[in-house]
Amino acid sequence: MVENQQKLIHTFGALAELGHEVSQKNNFQEMIRTSLHLLLGSLGIMRGGVARYSRFGHELNMLAVRGLGENFPLSLTLCDEDERQFLINGLVPIEVSQAKVLPFFRIYDRSFEDKRVELIVPLVIRDEIVGVVLLGEKANGEPYSAYDRDIICAMTRHIGVGIAQRNLMVELERRAVENRRLYEDLRMTYKDTVKAFATAIDCKDKYTEGHSVRVGKYSEIIAAELGWSEEQIEGVAVAGYLHDVGKLTVESSIINSPHRINAKETTELNKHPEIGYEILLPIHHPYTDVPLAAKYHHERLDGRGYPDELCDREIPYIAKIVCLADSFDAMTTDRPYKRRRPANEVIEDLRRNSGKQFAPELVTVFCRAMLKEITQGTKQKKFRRLLGKEYLEAEGIVPMLKNALNEMNGTSSLTLVAIV
Ligand SMILES: [Fe+2]
Repeated sequence: MVENQQKLIHTFGALAELGHEVSQKNNFQEMIRTSLHLLLGSLGIMRGGVARYSRFGHELNMLAVRGLGENFPLSLTLCDEDERQFLINGLVPIEVSQAKVLPFFRIYDRSFEDKRVELIVPLVIRDEIVGVVLLGEKANGEPYSAYDRDIICAMTRHIGVGIAQRNLMVELERRAVENRRLYEDLRMTYKDTVKAFATAIDCKDKYTEGHSVRVGKYSEIIAAELGWSEEQIEGVAVAGYLHDVGKLTVESSIINSPHRINAKETTELNKHPEIGYEILLPIHHPYTDVPLAAKYHHERLDGRGYPDELCDREIPYIAKIVCLADSFDAMTTDRPYKRRRPANEVIEDLRRNSGKQFAPELVTVFCRAMLKEITQGTKQKKFRRLLGKEYLEAEGIVPMLKNALNEMNGTSSLTLVAIV
């Protein structure tokens, strides 16, 4: 009686430890090894092994072995008939000597006999074979009792659950990787589509070739200097690429007029932000504010912009960024009725209109990004590629940028730049 009680306590202890092992997901191999040792140790079994089942290869691959020796096969194959029988059998231990009718036992008969494998427990979890546990003879030479078989059944269930959990995790990881890849593909497709659209918009205006693409790139520079995340930067770039999409519906003769357009034509042209918004709104963008950037990129902080004459805080932030990028490109590229303005004039314009047309903090980060590229020789020559080397290295541009920065944010430690 006392002996039985002790055995029971010992077994429960081993089961509790096994449960703990199974819940430790960090080292799967170690968990299986420890579980096997606990199982063998608690019932005094000499040899054993745990194999994991691969449905695709119909193979049982050994994860942990003890006492089976080097010659024991590390991979065992199951045929359809074996699989069916194992599934019907469930977690009940199979006597090797009684199961020779199955191909599996006939094929590996020699190996099982050599190592005195007496029991094989199919690990069937939620109607699926996840592996098997092989058990050799007991150290005391006694046959397995009904009580032993119950213990084996309970402990191998734990091991089976551990393997099933691991399989699930591997599958989830695989799906996550696949989803990420699909998402990346979609993102690339979206980006390519946006760029194709930008090119189509720019094609309509023969005088401002590449404008939308450049506005996208300037918007990207501003967002990067603001320290935004990669996703936010991408969103702002998309907003820049598509800000003038509404121009696709404006008469080409108005857009390509070699002269200043009249009031009626201006009214027509000025409809493009709202039309752009209408075009972009039904599209599901990965970034929420893209349509708003199209609608409000001609608004001004002082309320003198269009279409809604919004003031400062009423204007979506993304539209403020695109507005600055748009105006900067307009000033730094040739137009039919005027040449590009020199760099110092453009910087002066930004400074003068900071707080009126443009958000001051955005002018600051824009000038700072430009100054950094010129003075610190940053790796990516974004401004140089967009404006040309000569333009960017015009005489006086560095002190001009420093002055503008100090003036706009004289007390900010972030933007204060020593004037050399
Ligand atoms: Fe525009």
